[in-house]
Amino acid sequence: MTSPVLLDRADLHASLADPALLSMNFLNEVAGRYPRAISFAPGRPTEETFDVADLHRYLDAYARHLAEDKGYDEVRVRRELFQYGRTKGVVHELIARQLQLDEGITVDPEAIVVTVGAQEALWLVLRALKAAENDVVLAVTPAYVGLTGAARLLDLPVRSVPEGPHGLRPEDLLDRIRAVRAAGERPRALYLVPDFSNPSGHSLDLATRRRLLEIAAEEDILLLEDNPYGYFRAADGERLPTLKALDTGQRVVHVGSLAKTCFPGARVGFAVADQQIAGGGLLADELSRAKSMVTVNTSPISQALVGGMLLEHGGSLLRANERAIAVYRRNLDCLLKGLERRFSALPGVSWNTPSGGFFVVVTVPFPVTDALLEDAAVRHGVLFTPMRHFGDDARSARQLRLSCSYLTTDQIESGLDRLSDLIAEHLRAAPDA
Ligand SMILES: Cc1ncc(COP(=O)(O)O)c(C=O)c1O
Repeated sequence: MTSPVLLDRADLHASLADPALLSMNFLNEVAGRYPRAISFAPGRPTEETFDVADLHRYLDAYARHLAEDKGYDEVRVRRELFQYGRTKGVVHELIARQLQLDEGITVDPEAIVVTVGAQEALWLVLRALKAAENDVVLAVTPAYVGLTGAARLLDLPVRSVPEGPHGLRPEDLLDRIRAVRAAGERPRALYLVPDFSNPSGHSLDLATRRRLLEIAAEEDILLLEDNPYGYFRAADGERLPTLKALDTGQRVVHVGSLAKTCFPGARVGFAVADQQIAGGGLLADELSRAKSMVTVNTSPISQALVGGMLLEHGGSLLRANERAIAVYRRNLDCLLKGLERRFSALPGVSWNTPSGGFFVVVTVPFPVTDALLEDAAVRHGVLFTPMRHFGDDARSARQLRLSCSYLTTDQIESGLDRLSDLIAEHLRAAPDA
């Protein structure tokens, strides 16, 4: 008998041991390890609107659409659902219509690549943009770990553009671009979540959006706009336009996720990559070539389910999400009022007040580590996300992210009571920390 192989970690890609890659699994698994804790950790959509019966109906609605709207015969309908399919996806026309209806974005469906979640779209874009040794991507930081981790897998350095307490300042982006260039690096794109960002909850105002587009043109970079939360505004009224809706020079690669607006189990997202390539074709076609070697095509069954959901709601995700939007509004309101009631008189404790989305960031006068998180889970029965998973600056080290999307208001109230006990305990232990 031969002895079993023992691989050396040093012989595997270095990114596999990178903290960014460890973060995603840690954050996904921690709630599972403490099932009795109230978890403000995951940015999951509410389950209050899920119903298994919906899946059957969505599939039927999509199959009917293929037969009646597209005129496909029975053989073709079966093939569309059961077979390998078009690499760029099959619900691209429905997505283009949805972007027009909900966002005022006019885009050729050929410029859309339907991906396995937004995560694959981010990876494909970074893959395509890294051409030279000195290429880097800029990211508004603290940044979503999925971006940082994907960049690490591709050996693409991430250079941070720090978000201040009130969000991104365009002059900080300009300074960073110039510093990066002075160091001999080539910035290819700025990654950002302009609406109700993960993790910070911040949104960009209209003037900042317009200025970023100007800077992108002047400095010849792309903007990689990630928009999973844009529909979840807390108040009535007009949403601000996405960067892509304002983009007249194809400076924006827009990444959408249907994880929060349909359901994450489908694993469907997309990239709008309408940039022309000199010599012919679109960036979307280049992404498609890369995709053909990664996931081949996004599951047609998953695409049929989200396609059916869109069709059932007149093609609009805003309409499809009316109930979910009401849940998120209720929860964010409950969380912000609950923080106010418990913490407004506490020294050194503060938080931001996002105008929508899933996340609020709380600053405390002591370090927020993974050890503190484990202790909070074991002794206080509450979970959150230490912001140090998203940024290595001094401010993030004393911050925690609370996500309220997935809880009931009773759970939010009890979770905040537990968090309050934890914070009070630490303030007593180190009152001047
Ligand atoms: C900012 C951001 N981008 C991308 C994603 C990934 O989305 P998907 O589940 O579609 O891959 C998430 C998921 O939480 C996210 O918060």
